[in-house]
Amino acid sequence: MKTNPMDEFSEPTECSNPSTRRDVLKLAIGGLAGMLLPGCSTISGPEMGGTQPKLGFRSIPISSEDVVHVAPGYDWRILYAWGDPVQSSGPEFKSDASNTAEDQFQQAGCHHDGMEFFPIGGSSTHGYLCLNHESFDDGLIHPGGSLPTSQEKAKKGMASCGVSVIEVKRNDRGIWQRLDSPVARRITAMSPMLMAGPAAGHARLQTRVDPQGRTVFGTLGNCAAGRTPWGTYLTCEENFQDFFKLPDEGERVTKAEKRYMADAGLMNHWHEFEDRFDFAKEPNEYNRFGWVVEIDPRQKAPPMKRTALGRFRHENAALTLSKENHVVVYMGDDSKFEYIYKFVSKGVYDPDDHSNIDDLLNVGTLYVAQFLDSRQGKWVELTHGKNGLNKDSGFADQGEVLIHARLAADHVGATTMDRPEWLAVHEQLGEVFVSLTNNSKRGKSGYPATNEANSRKKNIHGHILRWRESGADAAATTFSWSPLILCPDEEADVHFSSPDGMHIDQRGILWVQTDVSSSKLNTKKYERFGNNQVLAVDPVSGDVRRFLTGPVRCEITGLTTTPDGKTLFVNIQHPGQPNGGQTKEPQDVGKYSTWPDGESESARMGRPQCGRPRCATLVIQRKDGGVVG
Ligand code: FEO
Ligand code: CA
Ligand code: CA
Ligand code: CA
Repeated sequence: MKTNPMDEFSEPTECSNPSTRRDVLKLAIGGLAGMLLPGCSTISGPEMGGTQPKLGFRSIPISSEDVVHVAPGYDWRILYAWGDPVQSSGPEFKSDASNTAEDQFQQAGCHHDGMEFFPIGGSSTHGYLCLNHESFDDGLIHPGGSLPTSQEKAKKGMASCGVSVIEVKRNDRGIWQRLDSPVARRITAMSPMLMAGPAAGHARLQTRVDPQGRTVFGTLGNCAAGRTPWGTYLTCEENFQDFFKLPDEGERVTKAEKRYMADAGLMNHWHEFEDRFDFAKEPNEYNRFGWVVEIDPRQKAPPMKRTALGRFRHENAALTLSKENHVVVYMGDDSKFEYIYKFVSKGVYDPDDHSNIDDLLNVGTLYVAQFLDSRQGKWVELTHGKNGLNKDSGFADQGEVLIHARLAADHVGATTMDRPEWLAVHEQLGEVFVSLTNNSKRGKSGYPATNEANSRKKNIHGHILRWRESGADAAATTFSWSPLILCPDEEADVHFSSPDGMHIDQRGILWVQTDVSSSKLNTKKYERFGNNQVLAVDPVSGDVRRFLTGPVRCEITGLTTTPDGKTLFVNIQHPGQPNGGQTKEPQDVGKYSTWPDGESESARMGRPQCGRPRCATLVIQRKDGGVVG
C-alpha cells in the first residue's frame, strides 16, 4: 500500500487504536467511495465532486535537455547514484568504472526502478528506502566495455542488479542523507533466497545445485515494487528472460517454455561462466525467476519468492485489504497482450497479531481479469481443478498453474491488455488504476483485435484504466471499469505518452511517470512530449500538470513519498541509454548523456565531473518545506 493508512499499519507500535485504522481502510476502499462516486466514470464526469485538494504548482514545459527540471518552488538533490557506497566505509565510485565486482557488491546498483520508503518509528524524516536495480548496461559498467568477457565482468554485472536497502534521514538543515546502518545492504543476482508457497519444491524448480527446488541464488529484472501492511518490501521480477542464454528460434522447447521466451534478447555473457544461465544446461533455473520477492528491510532474513502470486513478467504489486481484511495484491504482466492478475489471501491481516504473516502471501487464490463489454469485469480463478485447469489441459497440479500462470490465464480466456505496467489503489476513491503503457501491435494483422478496454488500434501512446470492485470489496470477483486517460488526450493542456510508474500520495494525487522508449524519444511522432517526465494527476478534477522532466534518454520511475507528503523520492533510470539498451563501443560512453555528473549539472551540484551517465535516486522537496504537489 502506498497511502497513509497503510504507512501507519507498517508501524503497529505507533497505532494507539489499531481498530480505528482498520476501519479507516475499510471506509476508504468501500463506504466513502460509494458515497462520493456512485458510478464508474471518466475523470471529466459530472459526478466528480471538487472535494480533493487542487494541485498547487505551475506545470513546466517539456524539455529535451540533459538536465532535470522541476516545478518552480522545488529543489532536487541526488541521494543515491549508481556506485555510491551503501555504507560510508564502502568503496567510493570510480568515474572510469574501474570499481571491481567486489566493490560493486557494496555500492548502489544500476537501473534504479521501483522504490518504497519505510518510516522508522512512524517518522517522515527517517526511514529505510528499498529500491530495485532492474538491469545494467554491460558496455557502461566496465572501463573498456563488455568485451572481452571475463568471470570478473560477469560477477560485476550480477552485483549491479537486484535491490538496495539503505537508511536515510533528513538533517536539521532539511537535507536528506544516507546513514550507516546495520541493515543497509545489497541484494544481488547472487544472494541466496527461498522459494515459498505452493510451487516451492516443485519438480520444475529443481536443479542440480538445488535438488530440493527451494533455494535460489538471486533475483533478476527487479522492475517495480510494492509494500505490505506489515512493513515489508516486494520486488517484482520482470524481464528475467534477457539474463539467460535461451534456445535459438526453431530449437525444441515446450509450448509453455516458448511462451515465457517471447521477445527475449540476451544482454550479458553470464552463461559463459555460470551454467545456470544457459537454458540448454539447466532448463529449470529459468522457472525460478519471474516471481514477486518479499524482503524485510528491518532484518537481514533471506528474501522469499512468493510463488502463490504466479510467474510472469511482473511489473509491480499494489496491495490493499478487503472488507474482511484479506490481503489483496494487484499485479500486471508487462508484455504485449498479457494480463492483469489479483491475489486474495486465505487468511486475514491483523495488525495486532503477526503470527500468520508468513502465510498471507503463501496461501490464497490467484485470479486473472476479464474486461467485458459494457464496462463490466470478472476475476477468473486460477486454481487447479477449477475452470478446466487440470491434467488434461496441461496442469498437473497448482504448482504448474503458478509456474505457467500465463498459460492458465490463456486457458480461462483472460483479456489481452496493452502492456500492463503499474497498478495503484486509490483508497479514498475506492478505485484501482492501471497504466497500459502502449502496444503498437494491437489490431495489426496476425495480432489480437481491439477490445473495449484496449480500444485503439496500434496504441502507441497507451492509456490508464480505472475500476471499482463490486460491493466496494477488494476481494470481489466482479468489477466495473472505465478509462481514466487515453494518451495523449488531445483535449488536455498537458500531453504525455507511455504512462508507466504510478503512485498515489496521501492526498489522493496520482503521480504518473512516463517511459517512452529511448529510441523513440524526441523523434517525429514523439517530439511533442520531450524527455520522459513526471505528471501529477488529480483524478477528481481531471487536472494534469507536468512536475518534472528528466535528462536525455532516461526513464523515470519508482516515485514514492513520505507519509507527511513533504518529501518525494524518484528514480532516474538509464540516462543516455543507447538504442537496444547496451553501449556497444567504449567510445560511445557519454554519447547521449553524461547526467548527473557531466558539465551541465556537476558544477551546480558540487559533484566531481564524470563522463559516464549514472542512474540515481533524487530527493525533491518544496523550498518552503510544504507538502509536495
Ligand atoms: Fe520494467 Fe515494465 O517496466
Ligand atoms: Ca516499468
Ligand atoms: Ca516501461
Ligand atoms: Ca526500465
